Amino acid sequence: MNTLCLENISKHYSKKCALNNVSITFEDGICGILGPNGAGKSTLMNIVTQNLDCDKGGKILWNGGDTAKMGSDFRSVIGFMPQQQELYPTFTAARFVGYIAALKGIFPKDIDGEVSRVLKLVELSDCADKKIGGFSGGMKQRTLIAQALLGDPKLIILDEPTAGLDPKQRVIIRRLVSSLAKEKIIIISTHIVSDIETIADKIIFIKDGEIIDSGTVGELVSKVNSDGKNLENLYMEYYGDDE
Ligand SMILES: Nc1ncnc2c1ncn2[C@@H]1O[C@H](COP(=O)(O)OP(=O)(O)OP(=O)(O)O)[C@@H](O)[C@H]1O
Ligand SMILES: [Mg+2]
Repeated sequence: MNTLCLENISKHYSKKCALNNVSITFEDGICGILGPNGAGKSTLMNIVTQNLDCDKGGKILWNGGDTAKMGSDFRSVIGFMPQQQELYPTFTAARFVGYIAALKGIFPKDIDGEVSRVLKLVELSDCADKKIGGFSGGMKQRTLIAQALLGDPKLIILDEPTAGLDPKQRVIIRRLVSSLAKEKIIIISTHIVSDIETIADKIIFIKDGEIIDSGTVGELVSKVNSDGKNLENLYMEYYGDDE
């Protein structure tokens, strides 16, 4: 069982407080982070993946070890799909994923095999040699998920992998994420309840840089005040007053 423990994580962008003293522990399984635009989801993910420093006083532990001191030992367990990522339209899927594999430090002799493995996982084997410029939105998102799976990381962080996709593509990505969740921690952010409510072992609601609730879907829906005990109604209770 892996654990990722966040202790007192805050982040200010000059005066703007994007995260306010967040403490939470993640364990193996799928954790969905729900929250509207600007809630702090990407900031949290960028801090965990060491693309951004948190304010002084915060600590992140991976299986009990301080990640600030683990350096590349920690980075090698991470697979990250950032919210904004460049895709090179003239690259084929295999070339793009192979390029990221090289940047990740995967041994040259292992790259081809690893690229085939991850493209198969996201069901893009047939399109490995096609140019990304001709891909649909769903295929592009799956290409980005594929690069996050290189090296079989134990901590997979996907920042809005379903953004801009139609319902069918959302279902495909949901099933894919669900199939990956074995002996690893998967953290996935979204605005959309249905993306995660059937697959997440745990859900975190984040608002204005704070975790306002977390638990299993069952625990969370039991808190709904209205008749319809479902996660969407809880979402509306938490965020419905926002514009
Ligand atoms: N580089 C930055 N400089 C200043 N403020 C920033 C910066 N990045 C984010 N913020 C602010 O921090 C807050 C949290 O932003 P963040 O991107 O983490 O939210 P989010 O939950 O990922 O939103 P979205 O759903 O739109 O992706 C927002 O108010 C945002 O405007
Ligand atoms: Mg974001």
